[in-house]
Amino acid sequence: MTTARAMGDPRVLISEEDIQAKVRELATRISEDYRGVEDLRMVGILKGAFIFLSDLSRRLTIPCSVDFMAVSSYGDGTTSNGSVRLVLDLRRSIAGAHVLVVEDIVDTGATLNYLLRLLAARRPASLKTCALVHKPARRKLETQVDYMGFEIPDAWVVGYGLDLAEEYRTLPYIGVLDVEE
Ligand code: IMP
Repeated sequence: MTTARAMGDPRVLISEEDIQAKVRELATRISEDYRGVEDLRMVGILKGAFIFLSDLSRRLTIPCSVDFMAVSSYGDGTTSNGSVRLVLDLRRSIAGAHVLVVEDIVDTGATLNYLLRLLAARRPASLKTCALVHKPARRKLETQVDYMGFEIPDAWVVGYGLDLAEEYRTLPYIGVLDVEE
């Protein structure tokens, strides 16, 4: 695993205003689709999804609860090593529950595929996914994304939860970073 280094500052790709407008739009759709569900289980994938999940969940108009999972595959580099490892599991059972997995970004699709297989085996009543951004050019696995925010080009992006070696997560916008491996 290599350690990646930023060359220069991030350049804004998706502004704070555009992110917040998209979060409101996604929350409206999700609230409509799950109308009548008494406890939508939002499953945030740490660490990247923590800001998106917190904004999205507060915009929902239906009852929901949050839980978290964490996986690792990238270390401090920018290329997935392909093998996804579970490092934190849910606190509550999801058997019979309506589950919405909330991801920051879908890149190769390995993380979401792994999680969907794992969670489906636990027999939820329904299982859907929501991702703020995706990079279709890098997709290696067919991946089910039910609620998608933005499509972006093949670049390393940071901010709004996304990092490079734990930096930049708290930027309010999503920016592109030139990276040297
Ligand atoms: P995948 O398993 O290849 O789809 O990658 C998903 C995970 O890789 C995301 O949850 C992120 O943690 C990380 N990731 C992929 N691309 C980026 C990026 O451009 N910036 C920051 N993190 C990324």
